Amino acid sequence: MAVTAHAKLDARALRRDFPIFEQEMHGKPLAYLDSANSSQKPRQVLDAVDRFYETSYANVHRAVHLLGERATSALEHARVRVRELLNAPDAREVIFVRNATEGINLVAYSWGLNNLGPGDAVVVTELEHHSNFVPWQYIARRQGAEFLMLTIDENGDPDLSELEAVARDHTVKVVATNLVSNSLGTIHDLAPLVSWAHEQGAIFVCDAAQAAPHMKVDVRAIGADFVAISGHKMCGPSGIGALWGRGELLRAMEPFLLGGHMINSVRVDKTTWGELPHKFEAGTSPIAEAVGLGAAVDYLEAVGLDAIEAHEHELAAYALGRLAEVPGITLYGPPAERRAGVVSFNLGDIHPHDVAQILDLQGVAIRAGHHCCQPLMQKLGVAATNRASFYLYTLPEEIDQLVDGLHAVRKVFA
Ligand SMILES: Cc1ncc(COP(=O)(O)O)c(C=O)c1O
Repeated sequence: MAVTAHAKLDARALRRDFPIFEQEMHGKPLAYLDSANSSQKPRQVLDAVDRFYETSYANVHRAVHLLGERATSALEHARVRVRELLNAPDAREVIFVRNATEGINLVAYSWGLNNLGPGDAVVVTELEHHSNFVPWQYIARRQGAEFLMLTIDENGDPDLSELEAVARDHTVKVVATNLVSNSLGTIHDLAPLVSWAHEQGAIFVCDAAQAAPHMKVDVRAIGADFVAISGHKMCGPSGIGALWGRGELLRAMEPFLLGGHMINSVRVDKTTWGELPHKFEAGTSPIAEAVGLGAAVDYLEAVGLDAIEAHEHELAAYALGRLAEVPGITLYGPPAERRAGVVSFNLGDIHPHDVAQILDLQGVAIRAGHHCCQPLMQKLGVAATNRASFYLYTLPEEIDQLVDGLHAVRKVFA
């Protein structure tokens, strides 16, 4: 695997940064294999949020007092850290939102309502999280535009041979896909889709919610027009995410949420909008959450995103090998070197909820369900799957605990 050339991380040492692992679940060591759902938080992030509340908290952008200035500079510092993480050209293009879902809705509403109409098409893939599917489906239908879905193969790769017919029959205005799939773990090569989108004159919207926690996401290298991330999946607090968008597009767009802070001037006959990023940040910001996200970026960069990605490839390879030993198991998705730390599977015809519940009693936390990917579930011909997901603090013995737990599940259902 090419990734082994990168510096290795010491998951056992990093794990000590995460106070949540100091406890047992149901009297068993906790094997937290649900990080794709939401990651745990290191002491460094928890302390940064505490410290901010204890020393620097006030509302931002509107107070002239010292605390207000401190809080504003802490928020803006976090914005700069997100800009650096994503290699975005300008911090003003980084909009703080609640999560990736809100970021994508922002684009769908603000860009879509003014730029989509009858005869236009929005293209997504069969592998999208509902967050990058439903907003586009809704706005496309509302605007009288077509909503199209590229089918995927068993690795999760979209069938690019469909593009020619799509281009022939439609005016494509939006292409929206994930960089890393939350259900199959597939890491996509977006380059062909991005250039195809731009050849059509379409914008490319990248859902990087599962990518940013696990690998370097460079908005310039991707060539996307919008990129959405969620803080809670990358060691940051819940309630904070970011949308990066090209400045010229953001400046031309109408606001998404309206109210305080996002205006330039308000008169009874006319209201004008503020500059970026404020135009898209109505109301009081998630201030401490943003500070926590900035600290999470510090943490991830100190560990090294290359090292995190390499660690996850190793864990995915180990998990695929160990899980294949379990009789009756069906594994979904690409080979280990093409996936982030996500493995979805089914165990015979045992319902994933039953599997997850029995595993929970063994101290193993996984996710069971449709993973907000119902179109994918239809493709796989199942209602749900189990999903184990890994992160920088995951140890191989947690995967062993999962495998032992699955043998126990089989015994219960024998
Ligand atoms: C690929 C992907 N996109 C979008 C989202 C939505 O993230 P959030 O719920 O933080 O908005 C998720 C969450 O699981 C995801 O996995």
